[in-house]
Amino acid sequence: MRIAVLGAGYVGLVSGACFAEFGIQVCIVDTDPAKVEALQRGVIPIYEPGLDKLVVENQADGRLSFTTRLEEAMEGADCVFLAVGTPSRRGDGHADLQYVFAAAEGVARAAKKDLVLVTKSTVPVGTGKKIKEIVQRVRPDLTIHVASNPEFLREGNAIGDFMRPDRVVLGAESEAAFATLRRLYRPLYLIETPIVATSLETAELIKYAANAFLATKITFINEMADLCEKVGADVHDVARGMGLDGRIGRKFLHAGPGYGGSCFPKDTLALAMTARDAGSPVRLVETTIAVNDARKEAMADRIIAALGGEVAGKSIGILGVTFKPETDDMRDAPSLVILPKLVAAGAKVVVHDPQPHQARQSLPGAVTFVATPLEAVTGADAVALLTEWNEYRSMAPERLRGAMRGKVVLDLRNAWDPEAMREAGLDYSGIGRP
Ligand code: UDX
Repeated sequence: MRIAVLGAGYVGLVSGACFAEFGIQVCIVDTDPAKVEALQRGVIPIYEPGLDKLVVENQADGRLSFTTRLEEAMEGADCVFLAVGTPSRRGDGHADLQYVFAAAEGVARAAKKDLVLVTKSTVPVGTGKKIKEIVQRVRPDLTIHVASNPEFLREGNAIGDFMRPDRVVLGAESEAAFATLRRLYRPLYLIETPIVATSLETAELIKYAANAFLATKITFINEMADLCEKVGADVHDVARGMGLDGRIGRKFLHAGPGYGGSCFPKDTLALAMTARDAGSPVRLVETTIAVNDARKEAMADRIIAALGGEVAGKSIGILGVTFKPETDDMRDAPSLVILPKLVAAGAKVVVHDPQPHQARQSLPGAVTFVATPLEAVTGADAVALLTEWNEYRSMAPERLRGAMRGKVVLDLRNAWDPEAMREAGLDYSGIGRP
C-alpha cells in the first residue's frame, strides 16, 4: 500500500514514520522546504524519543520519503492523511480550519484516481462533511471517500501510543473507506487492538470528548489538592484511593500546576465553542477551562507568597519549563504564565530544562538559562520544580540545601519526598500534601 501524509508536524511525522514501520510506502509532504530538506537528511525538527531512529531507518529502507510537492507525494497513493495544524483561531477560540480545507482542496485537485482522504488532525464535528462537499465540488469526476481517524498520541510516548494504542477510532461513510483503513491498521488488528468503527461525526467527537474528559479529570484532582491543603488531607492518597476504583481509574489523577500542551487547552476551548454553536453548551468543560487558566496564575502567586510576598531582587531557581517531561514543547506550558509574573515582580529567574530550545524563544528575555540543575539552584532563595523530568527526582535534598541560599522549595509536581526534604532542613511544600 502507498499513502501520502500532508503535514510534517508532530502528528504527521509520527503517523507517517509508524505507518512506514508497518511496511507501508509513505510520502510526507510539507510546504516548508527547509523542514523537508532537513528531514531528508534525517534531522528531526521536534524532540520525540525514538522518532529519529524510525525516520532514518525507514528512509534508508526506502519506505519513507519527504517532499514539498503534493503531486509527487500522491503518486499512486490509495489513501491521503491530513495532518496539518488546527490552531485556535485568534479571538474566538474556534479551531482554525483554513489549512485543513486548503489541503483537502489541494488533494482533490491533484488526485488522479479514487482515493480515501482521512483527517488525522483534530477537527470539530462536522468538518468531515465540509471536506466532503469541497472534494465533491472540485472533483465530481472522482470518488474521494472522506474518513476520520483521530490520533490519541501523547508527546514523549507517541511511538508507543501509535504502535500499541488502547483503541483505534475510524469514522467513515463507505465500506471502501473502512476496508482501506483496516488494511492500513492490519498490524494492530493482529495484536487485537479494539477498533471503534463509526460515523464521521462520532469519530470527530470522540477525540474532543476524550481530551476534554482527561482535562476535566486533571482539573478535578487539582481542585481536590487545593481542598486537601485547607483540610489537612493528602491528595496523593486521595487520588490513589479514588483511582483504585476501576470505574474511575488511576491515570490522570496527578495534581499539578494545571494542564498545558498542544491539545488539551486548544481542544477543550474548541469543544466548548462547537457545543455553544450547537445550542448544547458543555458547562463542565467551560468550567474546567476557567479553573485551569486561573490555576496557572495562582501558581505564580504561590511562589511569591512562599517568599514572604516580596520577590524583588530575590533569586528563584526553576527546574523544568516544558509543559511536561520528555518533550521540548512549550505550548500552553504553565511556565509561560508563571515565569513572566515572577519576572514582572522583580525576581531574578534562573531556569534549567533538559530540552530548552523552544523555551529560549518563548520565555521572557530576562530569564537566565543554565546548563545543569545544580547551577539553577545554586544561590537561589527559592527553588520551584515545574516539570517532573526524571533527572530532578534523583536530586539529593542535602545537595539542594547545600547549594541554595534560602530554604524555600516548591514542588508543583509532587516529584520529591516531603519528609526527606524537610529532614534536610528545607522549607518544602508540594501540591495538596500536608
Ligand atoms: C494529550 C492526550 O493525552 C493525547 O491523547 C492527545 O492526543 C493529545 O493531548 P499530551 O498533550 O502529549 O497528550 O500530554 P498528556 O500527557 O496528556 O498531558 C497533558 C497535560 O496534562 C500536561 O501538562 C501534563 O503535565 C498534565 N497532566 C497530565 C497533569 O497535570 N496530571 C496528570 O495526571 C496527567
